[in-house]
Amino acid sequence: MSTDNVTPPEDHDESWKEKNDRWPFTTKDDGWIKAHDALRADLSDLRAVIQAMQQLAKNNRLTKRQIKSVLVYWARFQHSLTHHHDTEDHIVIPWMCTRVLVPDTVASEHKELLDAMEAVDTKIKAVDMTESSIAALYEKFQILERVVLDHFQEEEASVLKLLRLHFTFAEFIPVEKQILKHLGPADLGWILRAMKNDEERRYWMTNVAKIPRLVQSLLMLPFCRRHLRKYIRPLQDIVKEAEGVAN
Ligand SMILES: [Fe+2]
Ligand SMILES: [Fe+2]
Repeated sequence: MSTDNVTPPEDHDESWKEKNDRWPFTTKDDGWIKAHDALRADLSDLRAVIQAMQQLAKNNRLTKRQIKSVLVYWARFQHSLTHHHDTEDHIVIPWMCTRVLVPDTVASEHKELLDAMEAVDTKIKAVDMTESSIAALYEKFQILERVVLDHFQEEEASVLKLLRLHFTFAEFIPVEKQILKHLGPADLGWILRAMKNDEERRYWMTNVAKIPRLVQSLLMLPFCRRHLRKYIRPLQDIVKEAEGVAN
């Protein structure tokens, strides 16, 4: 393995542009970034709902049912984030390390991220109807959010670029198959969550992920709808109620 290839390329680097263009889809459409987009949307939902809980608690309107909905969402988020990093740690990064030095900040940041997630987990499970319990949660959540967002930015600016610079898409296909083997239908539905609408979802599934239309219709889209219904809508209802209380 060469040791001089740890530095990620600059955007204007001609050799990088040429190698990147050989991949059949842009970095923006890459499944790696789509997973980050879904997690970024999850974080944005969590931030909004914690703020809404604060508003409701202040007005003695927060209910046990609402807290339960947030806990259900949180458990799903924990699963998605843990699964995403397990895939990187156990499949993608070891494979990349056969040819390129991957910055070891990836592994150390995963550890930092896990600690931040555990701190939120403790506080979210301790939330009662009081404003102080929600304030304690919000403090830990803000740390988690910062750590995750910075980590994703770093990964997209370095590791994803190193992957596209040193490997071809054809070489990546067996790795992608391994990743898919560990994903259940609910995970596949989740990855579509941050896309604007079904038209955008269809476009990505057809042109990038090359998923047959029947599988899109019978599996992917129904699981995405289930995700929206089971996890996201209850949170949106809490945020809407808090807005009503504030006005
Ligand atoms: Fe990561
Ligand atoms: Fe990642």
